[in-house]
Amino acid sequence: MDEKKIMLSGIKPSGDLTLGSYLGAIRNWAARAEEFDCYYFMADMHAITVRQDPAALRRRTLAQLAQYIACGLDPEKNTLFIQSHVHQHAELGWVLNCYAMFGELSRMTQFKDKSQKNADNINGGLFTYPCLMAADILLYQPDFVPVGEDQKQHVELTRNIVQRFNGIYGEVFKMPEPYIPKVGARIMSLTNPAAKMSKSENDDTGRVTLMDAPEVIMKQFKRAVTDSDTERCVRYDPEHKPGVANLMTIYSVITGKSYAEIEREFDGLGYGKFKPAVGEVVIDLLRPIQEQTRRILEDKAYLESVYRAGAEKASRVAEKTLRKVYRKVGFVAAK
Ligand code: TYM
Repeated sequence: MDEKKIMLSGIKPSGDLTLGSYLGAIRNWAARAEEFDCYYFMADMHAITVRQDPAALRRRTLAQLAQYIACGLDPEKNTLFIQSHVHQHAELGWVLNCYAMFGELSRMTQFKDKSQKNADNINGGLFTYPCLMAADILLYQPDFVPVGEDQKQHVELTRNIVQRFNGIYGEVFKMPEPYIPKVGARIMSLTNPAAKMSKSENDDTGRVTLMDAPEVIMKQFKRAVTDSDTERCVRYDPEHKPGVANLMTIYSVITGKSYAEIEREFDGLGYGKFKPAVGEVVIDLLRPIQEQTRRILEDKAYLESVYRAGAEKASRVAEKTLRKVYRKVGFVAAK
């Protein structure tokens, strides 16, 4: 009997994975395979809420799977799958649409933000996206959902849906908890520290992707925005020095050093020494991940075997929940 707690999360292949995706999410997944029964997926169905180039979406979905594995998610120990391969997501998503309120969906920050940025394509999927995300989560009855800060609101909406649904039908869904890292939950753009580092939005200078070449990474960090005060010292002050604070967060998560230790390390050295030092630790962190990703991507048969096995396992679990939900809401059993 498997009594492990369950952990689940996903990432949209809407752009190449960034340092933000890694530090805010994936890094916290890999360490937990022994302790939890883990499900991680490529949220390709979520990606199409914004127009995608089909070939690029396919390429990024497979690259993302290779990167999950390269980042330490062993497919033998974690269930890795592509969301659209498990049809129960769309099916439960529909049901949950009927248990989420227009008002609460309208309050989602991400919806407001994305509709502003995609004014010519404010589609229904963008609006009901959190219902699909709730389905992703609830199909697997996870205890924890590791996400960055920006997804917390969606997990909270999922919790509201659980309360509403269970209130009507009894204990159908387990109440999930968001699991948000203390440091690194919101990595900001290197050129605009007021916006998060995004896979698909801000300009390329603000992000570092997991596959960027070392020279590119170094260039991005050297031109990262710091601040214009005259002291030019490395001090953790997110309010007045958000660019420096962001770089310190990146350095801290990767090296495990506290902000006080980092301040001491760069005392009197200024940004000219600090910025390339952050670039260096990022390059060292990503080098083995990049090499492994390239190796895995060459082995198409292996990748295929991973996502097939993942979808099969995920489907089995998801089907159990879906059947229960269908029965509870009053659908006639098909067999
Ligand atoms: P997505 O694809 O935008 O981001 C994937 C994960 O990475 C985190 N993240 C960050 N963390 C710190 N700093 C950043 N700059 C940064 N950028 C991204 C996100 O918080 C997220 O954890 N809707 C989700 C995908 C999803 C999902 C799910 C997640 C679909 N279904 C079910 C959990 C459970 C999304 O768009 O994440």
